[in-house]
Amino acid sequence: MCGIVGYIGNKKAMPILVNGLLRLEYRGYDSAGIATIEDDKIVVMKNKGRVNNLSNLSGIDKLVGTIGIAHTRWATHGKPSKENSHPHLDNSKSFAVVHNGIIENYHELKNFLIEKGYEFLSTTDTEVIPNLLHYYFNQDSKNDEKKLLRAVKNTCKDLKGSYAIEILSTYNKDKMIVVRKDSPLVIGKGLEENYISSDIPAILSYTKDFYLIDDNEIAELSRDKIKFYDSELNEIIKPVKSIEWGALSAEKDGYEDFMLKEIHEQPRAIRETVGAKLDNGKIEIEGLEFSKEYLENLNKIYIVACGTAMHAGLVAKATFEKFCKIPVEVDIASEFRYRDPLIDERTLCIYISQSGETADTIAALKLAKSKGAKTLAISNVIGSSITREADYSIYTHAGPEIAVASTKAYTSQVALLVILGMYFAEKLEKVDKSEINNLKSDILKIPTQIEEILKNTKQIQEFARKVYKEKDMFFLGRGTDYAVSLEGSLKLKEISYIHSESYASGELKHGPIALIENGVTVVAIMTNPSLVEKSISNIQEVVTRGAKVLAITSEDIKNDGLNEVIKLPKTNPLISPILSVIPMQLFAYYISKEKGLDVDKPRNLAKSVTVE
Ligand code: G6P
Repeated sequence: MCGIVGYIGNKKAMPILVNGLLRLEYRGYDSAGIATIEDDKIVVMKNKGRVNNLSNLSGIDKLVGTIGIAHTRWATHGKPSKENSHPHLDNSKSFAVVHNGIIENYHELKNFLIEKGYEFLSTTDTEVIPNLLHYYFNQDSKNDEKKLLRAVKNTCKDLKGSYAIEILSTYNKDKMIVVRKDSPLVIGKGLEENYISSDIPAILSYTKDFYLIDDNEIAELSRDKIKFYDSELNEIIKPVKSIEWGALSAEKDGYEDFMLKEIHEQPRAIRETVGAKLDNGKIEIEGLEFSKEYLENLNKIYIVACGTAMHAGLVAKATFEKFCKIPVEVDIASEFRYRDPLIDERTLCIYISQSGETADTIAALKLAKSKGAKTLAISNVIGSSITREADYSIYTHAGPEIAVASTKAYTSQVALLVILGMYFAEKLEKVDKSEINNLKSDILKIPTQIEEILKNTKQIQEFARKVYKEKDMFFLGRGTDYAVSLEGSLKLKEISYIHSESYASGELKHGPIALIENGVTVVAIMTNPSLVEKSISNIQEVVTRGAKVLAITSEDIKNDGLNEVIKLPKTNPLISPILSVIPMQLFAYYISKEKGLDVDKPRNLAKSVTVE
């Protein structure tokens, strides 16, 4: 989705802004633009398409201004075009604005401004903001140093919806103002310079010290100072936070694509995620204060998320139910928030979000809170919006995930959820300790087992080469193998644009088998020893109908008509998805490469979906 970058300092802003936008490319966008202050004027340069279309514009290298704002737009209101791309100016060209989010009442505001004589050049919701700023600035007869801030305050009072906004104005050429509500924005603090971004990785190479702005807060940035205000312009003090992520974690580091790099980072990500909580056989989770009594009283656990994060929840359901004996319902955040779910103070709601900024997941969390349930966020980003809303937060240690298709975040989420399930189970004392101890020792072996799988990727690459021209594929599994097959199928759709469906193997005869004909590709996941025989019977049914089968298994199965068998190391079926997803991630990756597609930035998709 849209990305924001800003700079104020003593260096030329343009290269820093463009570089920041390039680092935000992974978020998904269709146009890009920047504005700087050159002498006394705001200069805007923008273009449809990739950041390169912007950086190739003639005259852009003549920009020498040391203050500027920049944006990548993912079209919501108005088609992707140069006119609709940000920054937007007011009619007098004294205010430039970039905006992430949606102004829900922009029609009303636009009509109000048109009545006042303002003209509009774009079809965006954003263009009301610079014109409202101009309107309020000119309504204000007091000419003091807070005049611009008051215009921002009054404008924000009119806006309904979500926003992260950066503002430049010729009325104060050495200041930049930012404000946010329900849309991410961070400020990076440098020496005699400050940075703004919607996403930490974009400015990680410049600073590791960040301020996290909360909803309805306004920040006024100068070169050497940052002042924070609440929505009524009372000054507030905010702590600076240091981020551990290294700058290299947002670079490709020799890999062809971020996705391939992130697939290979999984052993480290899981080692760190697990290692932070499970030490010397003991699980300790800092900041969680769930007593045995609270857990015993729970009537249900909801796990709510979107996309891949929701798939991680589906895998973890088995651990919570088996070890804690509490019913678990896994739901899609956009459904959960509108279906009046049965929640009370005896329900624990767990929300998973890599970015911590997914609009539906945040809204679903707010809903549960309003119904009296305790909320727990699982995120990869410290200080992200969801972690600030939740009663409790725990973190994966995946590091920045840049490729749109999630890989290391998913496996880290599964690992962390399983650790959480074991942590609850130990408090509840409902299962034999040895069962938990066995799972602990199995999860510690996972990183090395992934390393083993990653040593030989040729077999998958070759199979991908054979089937990359197909139009449809099927993914089949039972139990946690079914849960992970949903993720395998999603990976394929996301980056190879091949239609695929995932089915519980037992459902095959209830419809989907009608689609199996000569040459159709089926990916079969079979890691659970107690279910493998049943799964093999299902696979034989597709083999006899001419399907090409890629089997992913940890069992010694007979290669009866299967085209390819990927052998995985053995582990507990509760965590086998962390292993079996690896060949499926690689399968999707190699197919995408064979088709010559952009693996890291698939069409129409955004890394972080910050609007509904
Ligand atoms: C987008 C991304 C997915 C991700 C989902 C949820 O659709 O492309 O990879 O799983 O959002 O994102 P979150 O940041 O909440 O985990």
